[in-house]
Amino acid sequence: MRISDNKIEEIRIAANIVDVISEYVQLRKRGKNYIGLCPFHSEKTPSFTVSEEKQIFNCFGCHKGGNVYKFLMEYEKISFIESVQELAQRYGVNIEVDEETTGKQSEQEILYDINTETAKYFSNNLLNSSEAEIAREYFQKRKIKPQTMRSFGLGYAFPSWDHFVNYAQDKKIDLERAISLGLIGQSNDGRLYDKFSGRIIFPIFSPNGRVVAFAGRIIEKKENSAKYLNSPESLIYVKGRILYGLSHSKDEIRKLDKAILVEGYMDLISLHQSGIKNVVAVSGTALTEEQVQLLSRYTKNVVLLFDADTAGIKASMRSIELLLKKDMEIKIASLPSGEDPDSFVNNFGREKFEEIIKKAQNFLEYQTEFYSNQGMFEDPSKTAEAIRELVKPVSIINDELKRSLLIKSIAKKFNLREKLLENELDKAIQSFGKQITNEERIRDKELIKKQLEAKLQKDRKISPREIRLEKEILKLLFEGKTEIVGFVFSQISPEEFLTEEHAKLAEIVYEAYKNNEEIIAASLIEKISDEKLQSFVLNLTFDKYSISRNWEDIYPGLPHEKILQKIAVDTVKRFRTEKINFEIKNNFRLIESATEEEERFELMKLNHELEKEKQKLNLNISIE
Ligand code: CTP
Ligand code: MN
Repeated sequence: MRISDNKIEEIRIAANIVDVISEYVQLRKRGKNYIGLCPFHSEKTPSFTVSEEKQIFNCFGCHKGGNVYKFLMEYEKISFIESVQELAQRYGVNIEVDEETTGKQSEQEILYDINTETAKYFSNNLLNSSEAEIAREYFQKRKIKPQTMRSFGLGYAFPSWDHFVNYAQDKKIDLERAISLGLIGQSNDGRLYDKFSGRIIFPIFSPNGRVVAFAGRIIEKKENSAKYLNSPESLIYVKGRILYGLSHSKDEIRKLDKAILVEGYMDLISLHQSGIKNVVAVSGTALTEEQVQLLSRYTKNVVLLFDADTAGIKASMRSIELLLKKDMEIKIASLPSGEDPDSFVNNFGREKFEEIIKKAQNFLEYQTEFYSNQGMFEDPSKTAEAIRELVKPVSIINDELKRSLLIKSIAKKFNLREKLLENELDKAIQSFGKQITNEERIRDKELIKKQLEAKLQKDRKISPREIRLEKEILKLLFEGKTEIVGFVFSQISPEEFLTEEHAKLAEIVYEAYKNNEEIIAASLIEKISDEKLQSFVLNLTFDKYSISRNWEDIYPGLPHEKILQKIAVDTVKRFRTEKINFEIKNNFRLIESATEEEERFELMKLNHELEKEKQKLNLNISIE
């Protein structure tokens, strides 16, 4: 069952964390919080703390913490869904009738429902029908376990020409829509027939795990019929925007900060079954820009693992350019000839597979080897051509620093003068530049400048004061007051945080704020996949009262809300001042190294303006 995010939130709100935990742990009120003896480790003095305001708990001894769901998961050793179901039952929230109560379903929802129902039908055929023996045998031959079939919703469409049509009619599935989803076809004389008949079925999921399409593979090779049949594009399925397996892999990809990109459905499924779960499949199409964009939300590190045949190599070469354009870090792994990832992991096992991934080459090594295998380095005229080809993808990279490192490595590899390569590179950049419009070039230039600036920021030492300030801002963001959050983001954008962790957390709050979601630690924490970050937030939010108490001394009697506002304004001002100070200092450094008088003058003017801006901060930043 899929429970909507809204429901999960509704149930969490219904179940007050203090009430729930009180059933298991004796809690005492201390200040704003409740404390008790931690149920997760043995202790004599209580370090287990529950915040009613923020609806989260945290143990300062064993560092377990989270929202009410997390508590039940840990305490009762149950899954997330089970904890949601349990609380729904206890607090009388109905999770079945989501749609009826919220009124009319959108067209998308209707299509999702048809696909879900159909996926169940296919899966049930495969797992339970006596007529599906042939499909079960097929999967057994390919070493796919029943557990894996269930987890990927694999199925079977009977060879009959209208079994599904009849089923759909029985279940009152709208036939027009089933046709538009490519489940049912209609012949010239108007007769309806099953589109996928006789095929094993792979449901294709959206990143959130909804069934958007199907792929059907023939079991036995037949003349005149395609090996795979795929659903057509529809309102809920745009081929180039889906990566097969992402819904199953995204957590692991985030965790390992690396994705393995394979070609086929079976490749992905077999790898998952052997415990390699940071995989996505492009499945049939050439990799698209949108797919890269999608993947880049989870990681910037990609290992390409395409089949060793010429089609696979061609696909790799094309994908490399696309990935480079999006600033991804690419490696290319190669399998022995005749193997694909599915056959390899089944024949040689997980460890050998991981060795292959470890041995992945960077894209230059890979391409060099490719041209070398083609004998291009034996013939001087072809060598020049090969080098030109090698320089081409380098020219796509936005990052100047990266580019020059790569040029160095090509130079070393072929024993060439760097200058020569730089000339080639300049030419390649120019011809690449010609392909794009002027407008884009300007945008690119700005991008490069931004990246350089970002790099400068990254490479610079971050002072303890800056860290402290960022933490104070984060505390405010996790305080649960929309008004405060809105104020902070009117002055500071998430990318301005200097450490990656801080930026990530700010981004999470920012997204929730933009989407008008509730800004409370208990639901924000649900969006943080990294455990370390989670406990960082827990410590941060529970630690807050130490500063707020100081302020309460300064403004005795002022209500908590007002004090928070004062803290927010003050902290944001200090944050902005710090940023301006940094810029001024940086400009002074540039002034020293500037060679042109004019440049020096411009920088000085800039600093003068920054000083003025700093003075105006007091007037310009206020919460009302
Ligand atoms: N593909 C497709 N349509 C085809 C052939 C292939 O959509 N007619 C896609 C499928 O997503 C397939 C991928 O391309 O998974 C790779 O194709 P191929 O290597 O031929 O198939 P495998 O995935 O290896 O499938 P199997 O192992 O079952 O032969
Ligand atoms: Mn295969």
